[in-house]
Formats: sequence, C-alpha cells, structure tokens
Amino acid sequence: MVSIKTVAVLGGTGNLGPSIVHHLLSAGFTVTGLTRASSTNSTPVYPDSVTVHKVDFASFDSLRSALDGQDAVVSVVGSPGVAAQKLAVDAAVAAGVKRFIPSEFGVNTRKVRDRPIGRILREKVEVVDYLIGREGEISWTGVSTGLFFDWGLEKHGLSTINLGDKTSSVVDSGNEKFQVSTLAQVGRAVVKILQHPEETKNKYLVTSSFQVSQNEIIKTVEELTGEKYPVVKREKAEDLQKAGEEKLAVGDYRAFIDFLRAYNNADGAGNAVSEEESANGLIGLEYEDLRESVREWLVKAGVLS
Ligand SMILES: NC(=O)c1ccc[n+]([C@@H]2O[C@H](COP(=O)([O-])OP(=O)(O)OC[C@H]3O[C@@H](n4cnc5c(N)ncnc54)[C@H](OP(=O)(O)O)[C@@H]3O)[C@@H](O)[C@H]2O)c1
Repeated sequence: MVSIKTVAVLGGTGNLGPSIVHHLLSAGFTVTGLTRASSTNSTPVYPDSVTVHKVDFASFDSLRSALDGQDAVVSVVGSPGVAAQKLAVDAAVAAGVKRFIPSEFGVNTRKVRDRPIGRILREKVEVVDYLIGREGEISWTGVSTGLFFDWGLEKHGLSTINLGDKTSSVVDSGNEKFQVSTLAQVGRAVVKILQHPEETKNKYLVTSSFQVSQNEIIKTVEELTGEKYPVVKREKAEDLQKAGEEKLAVGDYRAFIDFLRAYNNADGAGNAVSEEESANGLIGLEYEDLRESVREWLVKAGVLS
C-alpha cells in the first residue's frame, strides 16, 4: 500500500499555492517548496515549516536533486510554467516520486481538449497526456475544480456582481449552473487525494464546493445584504464565444475569459458537475455552503460586519 508523507509543491507562491500548502501542513504532510531561482517574489511566501529550494525549472539536475526523498509532487505553477512541468515529471520519475499532481485546477481539460477553449489549455492537456504515457514509472492524479469561487468573487465579482455600484450582469438567462471551488476547498481536495493514493491513482477527478448559477449568486447577495442588485447588463454566450474566437484567431489569449464565461454560463452548457461525475464522494470531500461562502466574501469586502 502506497503511503504519501513528503510532498514537494511547485509554484506554491501564487494565488492558489498558499491554500494548498496550508492544508497539506495542517494535515501533517512534510512540505518542501520549489521556487524558481529567478522568482521575483520578494517576501517569504512559504511558512517557516516549509523547506524551500530555489531551482532552475529548465534544468533536469536542479529539479532532480530538489525532489530527492519526495513521495509526491503537487504542481501549482501558473500558466507560463505549465509546459515546463514535463521536465519536472522526468525529474520526479528519476527521483522515485510516487504521485504527480499537475497544475490543472480549473476547467476539465479532458473534456474540452478539442474545443476552442481547449486550444488555450493545450499545454495542460499535453502534460496530462505525458503523465498518462509514463504511468508505468509514476502515478498521477489530475483535478478539475471549476472556477475559484472566493478568488473570482474578490477579483471580478465572478463577472456577475458589482459591489461598487450595487448592480449585476448576467450571461444568457443567468440560470445555468456551473462548477466552483473555494481556494480552501481546492486545498482540501489535494489533501484528500494524497490521503487516498490507491483510489485516485492515474485518474482525472472532478471536484467542487458546489454548483451555482449567476442568478443564485445575485439572489444570495440580495438576501444577505437586504439590498437590490438590479441586472444592468445582459450578454449572450454566443457573442462571447464569437469574440473569443476572433481574439484567438489573432493569437490573443485573453480569449480565454470570453470562452470561460460562455462555457460556464451559456444556457444549456451542461458543465455543472453531476453526482455521477463528481469525485467528492470518492475522496470524502464534503460540499460547502453557498450562502456561507458569499457571506464570507461580503464580510471581507466590508459590506457585512
Ligand atoms: N479555476 C480558477 O478559477 C483558476 C484561477 C486562477 C488559476 N487557476 C489555475 O490554478 C493553477 C495555479 O494558478 P495560480 O494563479 O496560483 O498561478 P500564479 O499565481 O500565476 O503562479 C503560481 C506560481 O508559479 C510559479 N511560476 C510562474 N512562472 C513560472 C514559470 N515560468 N516556470 C515555473 N514556475 C513558474 C511562481 O512561483 P515562484 O515565483 O515561487 O517560482 C508563481 O508564484 C494554474 O493551473 C491555473 O491555471 C485556476
């Protein structure tokens, strides 16, 4: 029976990494952080209990020696580092690492590989393909988490709620449900995967906090604040899709946001996670509460006390 105790986190210094590192440490894993020698992160972003190695992500030897003694690798590298994960897989194999979790954590790239949005996510798709090709040497688990709910609300009101002028905007009817996870839930999902190495071996999993629609978010904000957030803008998913395709045709990868909004919000998109598709049950990951998550955001934003 494989047991995972030591975990190397690649790129744990960005938006998602700190939550994963926090949950790994809380669950008792020994965590090592691999950070680029060229990293411009100036503050100590890993907690003191994490051993940090500065590595050259383009050097097999540098990665190989930093991965010595690690049972698992969790890669949380941002987009510019996605393709370089193949070398990290090679180094992990050489170092005898048992499990590699690649930087996925979003749209189910297995499902969209042949769609326009999949073209933007091509490097992620190729890394999972690469891991599948090396299954005899190292095991892997990919995880699609959907949109980061709290992060998305904080950054863009999930493109639905504008706290500033107390308005909202929706794509299509606003009734389509989509897959979301809070950053904490992604951290818990990674922990559960590593605590269930056999059940999660060589699988692409789909987890979430809950499925939600734009209208449910607006309704929840209105109920919690006791104020109206009238819809002042309506966009059509087909227009977003078209705008994305035009951008992609000229190599403008900002197309991703247009595609993503259409993917999540188009009427009939069907990209919410069904019970059969969900791996929450497999790994023992409890769903979260929409109202509580929105309340936390509103408190953080100073709208509720
Ligand atoms: N579902 C969602 O809503 C959502 C939202 C955002 C991100 N994501 C996904 O979550 C994962 C992590 O994203 P993130 O936003 O946390 O990433 P990020 O903040 O952009 O970057 C994470 C870390 O990656 C490292 N890095 C940057 N460039 C690199 C390179 N060229 N080579 C190697 N490492 C590099 C850096 O660490 P060091 O400086 O320490 O080297 C950086 O702090 C990605 O797969 C991303 O697509 C999903």
